[in-house]
Order: sequence, then C-alpha cells, then structure tokens
Amino acid sequence: MTSLMQKLARLAVKTFCRDPKLSAENFQSSYEKLCGMLDTLTPQDLNLNPRLLHDRGHYNASRDGAPVTYMQIYEDQDVTVCVFILKHGVRLPLHDHPNMFGLLKVVHGVVGVQSYSLGEASFDVGVGGMVPATKHPKVEVRAGDAACRLCPGDHNIHEIHSIDGPAAFLDILSPPYGEDMRTGHDRDCHYYQELSPSLAPSLAPSLTTSASPNSTWLLSVPTPADFWCDQVDYQGPTVSSDPDPRIS
Ligand SMILES: [Fe+2]
Repeated sequence: MTSLMQKLARLAVKTFCRDPKLSAENFQSSYEKLCGMLDTLTPQDLNLNPRLLHDRGHYNASRDGAPVTYMQIYEDQDVTVCVFILKHGVRLPLHDHPNMFGLLKVVHGVVGVQSYSLGEASFDVGVGGMVPATKHPKVEVRAGDAACRLCPGDHNIHEIHSIDGPAAFLDILSPPYGEDMRTGHDRDCHYYQELSPSLAPSLAPSLTTSASPNSTWLLSVPTPADFWCDQVDYQGPTVSSDPDPRIS
C-alpha cells in the first residue's frame, strides 16, 4: 500500500513541476488536492522519533544543542519537502521565500506565525536595506489545523515560533532555495527585522499618514547569531518521484 508520504511527495512533484503545459486550472486543482492531503498528516506518517518531540522545558543552548532541527525528505529542481522541529520557546527568525510557493503543515505542537507580504520584485535588497511590507495578523497554528499557504507576493515572509513546547511542521517549498536549475538564478534566504514604529517615520518617511495601518518596513539583516539548525535523517516511508497512475 502506498504511504501517505509517498502520495504527498508525488503530488507535490506533479503540482510544482513547472511544466509549461500545466494549465493554471490544473495547477490549482492539483494544489488544492495537495492541501487536502496534508490535512491528515501526523508524526506517525513521518515516523518521527518521539525523542525529537520530547519537551525538556524552555530551550537552553548549553543543554539542548541547536534550537531547530532540519530533516530533508525529498528535493529535486522544483520542490523541497522537509520538516522543521522547533524546541520549546524558539523561533525560526523572520525570513523570506523569494517568489516561492510554500505549504506549512504543523504535525506536532503549536506554532505562532507572523507573516508579511512582500511584492514579487522586493527581494533584491542587500543587508541594511529596507523593503515595504504588509503585516498580517499573527496566527496560532496547531497540529490538526489546515496547512498555512504562502505564494509569490503573498505571506511570503514569516517568523515562526513554538508555543508551550516543541513543535514540528512539514514544509513543501517550490522552487527550492539555492541555484535554480531552470532559470540559473540563485534563490537565497534573507533575514529581516521589522522596523519599530518609532524608527520607521525617520528612516522611511513614506510610512506616514497615507500608509494603511498594516503597512510596515522590514530591514534586511544578517542571519541571527542565535539561530542555527542541526540535521537528522528522515526515517519514514520511502518517497520517490516515480509517477503513480493512481494519483491523477
Ligand atoms: Fe519559511
């Protein structure tokens, strides 16, 4: 019997293969099906080691090692499927997904997600540069909730933190970070900090009376020094991109 992970991976590949022959309608239909399939995902489907989800209290760097654990499940030139495990009380710093699609499915615990939208052309800013953004309401997402969605131009920058214990979520990202084999462009991950309302008017004068209440500015910053990941191997069911006639 085909595992849920195998079905998910194959459908993710089919959805995000960037085949020019794939119509917008077919993409949307495949995308919605993928979102629905994610709804039922649990740590058991991933065969996640319970040790990785064990709550040892608030994160302590000298005791706990890396604040975040990364597990890659599948990657090709169009899509990455991976898992992030956040220890109790840590965060994935504010980071972007330049012109990418993303699905974030919490499988364990609760996360707080603060998202912003950057326009598709706003990602070429260097460290120290500022970009205008729209700030969305912060949400709490727990295991059992539907996957969060981001796409080029919408909710494509976010900070994610664990609430009241460790949390784990599956990410499906397309295209992957790094060199894009189809376009030749590098797709780096950039980190940001929201400018405080007291600084913003002097640094970004256009953020004044005419701006909407959820308009803000983000400052591009180096990778935060207190953030790093260790890595563990995926121990779940085998996944491959081989086509499966039962998935259409
Ligand atoms: Fe992200």
